Parts: sequence; structure tokens; C-alpha cells
Amino acid sequence: MRLLIKRGNLDKTYFEEFLVDFKEDETVLELLDRINRFKRDIAYRSFCRSSICGTCAVKVNDRSVLACKSKVRELIQNNELIIEPLDRSKVVRDLVIDHSYIEDSYKKNKLYFEGEECEGECLQTPDELRKYDKQTDCILCMACYAECEALDYDKNFAGPFIFTKYFRFVFDSRDKSNKQQRVELAKQNGLYNCINCQKCVMVCPKTIASAFDIKMLQNGDKNPSIQDFGSTFF
Ligand code: SF4
Ligand code: SF4
Ligand code: FES
Repeated sequence: MRLLIKRGNLDKTYFEEFLVDFKEDETVLELLDRINRFKRDIAYRSFCRSSICGTCAVKVNDRSVLACKSKVRELIQNNELIIEPLDRSKVVRDLVIDHSYIEDSYKKNKLYFEGEECEGECLQTPDELRKYDKQTDCILCMACYAECEALDYDKNFAGPFIFTKYFRFVFDSRDKSNKQQRVELAKQNGLYNCINCQKCVMVCPKTIASAFDIKMLQNGDKNPSIQDFGSTFF
């Protein structure tokens, strides 16, 4: 099989070619490890090796995937595999991208608990948890951000996973912030600029549907009677 790995940084990039055996059950991460055993200078990230930390996302044959979760056999085309860093983020080196967008946008979008603190434990019923439980599965891998077509038109669009995080706080009963103010901030950061291309849904390794989360936040914004997002929509 022919393997091409994009190397370099913003100043200079090139593809390095390897001819390697195709192994039926190998993941993209295992393949990178195998190459690096003799090459030793390819920069890529991994940590948990089990789809939990979100650090290993790369672009393989034009699709944003988690390297530790994706099998080579599912992605190979014409006996060729092309591995590149994720789109839309600054490349630090080779396959490693700069993750500072995550922290910066968390601050900008106030994606943390606000309002009165609970006294002692902050209790919640199983039904209250179910409202936003799926959205907490996000591992911040940036695959959806890399694929999002709204960013072609609006560079300030916050990105799918950021709106999923908004959803998580708006629908969490333990967050005592003003939910309408949260939605106003989401609007300032592009809530209505999603073009519903569904790419975020197609690539998310945790099967999160950010496009749906965005729709729910828009519905909440349009319904003036909303006092409590959680009880109104579920
Ligand atoms: S559906 Fe919206 S948020 Fe998701 S990738 Fe498309 S434009 Fe981006
Ligand atoms: S929503 Fe899915 S694709 Fe997007 S950052 Fe979170 S886990 Fe990754
Ligand atoms: S190494 Fe942690 S998600 Fe792949």
C-alpha cells in the first residue's frame, strides 16, 4: 500500500511517501506507530488510544477521523492512504494542530457554570441528566470543526462543538445562569449561520449531532415564552 503523510508546518509542507504492508485490522494510529518505529521523527498526537482523549484526530483520504478508532481498511482507496492534519487549524508540525482555539472559545462563549452555587451537592434527577447527557460525550477532537462548511462563509462562526457545549449548559438544570443571555451570546457567535450541511453529524466519532443542538438552541430563541429551556423542550 502507498502511504503519504503530510509533513512540515505553516512555512513549508511536503508529502513523504512510504510503501508499507496492508494489515487487515490495523488502526490509523497503529499504522503511524509502526512507521514511526523506524522513522522516529513524525509528529502526531495520541494518548488514550480508546476514543476518549480526542487528541489523535487527523484527516485521512479527505475525511476527519480519530486515528485510534478508524481502521485502515475502512479508509483506504486505490491501495493508497493520505494522512494530513485536520483542516481549519494552525499546524504546529506534521499532523499536530494547535488546540488553543478550544480554550479561547470556551472563554469567549462563557462555557462554564454560572450563577448561584448549589449548597452542598448539586442534585439532579435522571430525567434532568438525560436532557444533555449525550452532549457531554464531546471529546473536543475538532473533527466537526475541521469539516464545518459554515466556516467557509463566516470565519467567526464558533463551530459545531461549541454550540453543542452551549446546549449542554443551557439544558443543564445545575447551571443557574440566565439561559436567554446564553442564547444571545450564541447568536453573536453565529448561531444562525449554520447552513445545516450535516458534516458535523457525519464525522463525529461520538455520534453527537451538533446540527440538531443548533436547531434546538434556535427553537429556544424563537419561543418567547421560554423560562426554562429544559421543561419546555423535552
Ligand atoms: S450542520 Fe452547521 S454546524 Fe454542522 S457542519 Fe454543517 S454548517 Fe457546520
Ligand atoms: S462534537 Fe464530536 S466531532 Fe465535534 S469535537 Fe466533539 S466529539 Fe469531536
Ligand atoms: S488517542 Fe485518545 S482519542 Fe485517540
